[in-house]
Amino acid sequence: MTAEATEAPVPQSLGVFGLVGRSALVTGAGGGVGAAVASAFAAAGAAVLVTDIDLAAATAVATRIQEAGGTAEPFALDVCDGDRAREAASAAAQLAGGALHILVNNAGVIAPAMFPNMDEAKFRRVIDTHLMGSYHCSQAALGYIPDDGTGRIINVTSAAGLTGTIGQANYGAAKAAIVGLTMSLARELARQSITVNAVAPLAATAMTENIRTNEKLAAKTLARIPLGRWAYADEIAPTFVFLASDAAAYITGQVLPVDGGTVI
Ligand SMILES: NC(=O)c1ccc[n+]([C@@H]2O[C@H](COP(=O)([O-])OP(=O)(O)OC[C@H]3O[C@@H](n4cnc5c(N)ncnc54)[C@H](O)[C@@H]3O)[C@@H](O)[C@H]2O)c1
Repeated sequence: MTAEATEAPVPQSLGVFGLVGRSALVTGAGGGVGAAVASAFAAAGAAVLVTDIDLAAATAVATRIQEAGGTAEPFALDVCDGDRAREAASAAAQLAGGALHILVNNAGVIAPAMFPNMDEAKFRRVIDTHLMGSYHCSQAALGYIPDDGTGRIINVTSAAGLTGTIGQANYGAAKAAIVGLTMSLARELARQSITVNAVAPLAATAMTENIRTNEKLAAKTLARIPLGRWAYADEIAPTFVFLASDAAAYITGQVLPVDGGTVI
């Protein structure tokens, strides 16, 4: 073992997982995984800009966080709108003295169809929201993300982007592209000590309601989950807290499935 290794600072408390003094911008935080992530960030001490295309939903989440004693503000953001993304990044930075520490590119939609029936509008809508949305928000956030080792971009991909899927080629393509974006930005931004990772979740949210309420599809999906159940969105959120925290400062360019073993 080298002298450097033995002399490395040893964390003295679980404070290494905390986010006190950090600001975070979470997209699509009006429900599902994004809302759970925004709440978990606030519980860990971060000031959170709760953004969503649906302002009423974002406001309800921010209000819940405030009532629980956390710091959060709602903000209307369609991630397909680059100008608005810049306004959101600026607003999020104002929550922590001008720095935006954590960006979570979570907003998403689905538009399923078998490929012969998938028209261009359907294909583009999903690519625009997931991939171009991650592009716009990452571009906007970069001007505010500090280079002191606290900067984080956390993208959201899917098993569909890692192993493919049937009936959602648009979604599989967008989520695979997000993996490429994650790895490339991780390499580029390492020089600024900004880490870039992705989470591939599986959770009972509005997005998966159609699957969970269709008897045949639900059984098929459950059979592919080794842990044999859907997660609550709240079970996904702690992984984002970990990746956002100092505990994960040496992890970059990785995709972390939080999916009951679906992708093994
Ligand atoms: N739920 C799962 O099992 C699962 C699996 C793999 C990946 N994901 C990914 O996790 C993320 C969150 O999904 P979820 O399950 O919480 O879905 P959800 O439908 O519950 O939430 C998505 C949120 O995104 C918002 N949104 C949609 N379009 C937007 C836009 N253009 N700009 C801003 N906000 C927009 C919606 O209003 C909604 O609040 C998505 O990226 C999704 O692809 C989810």
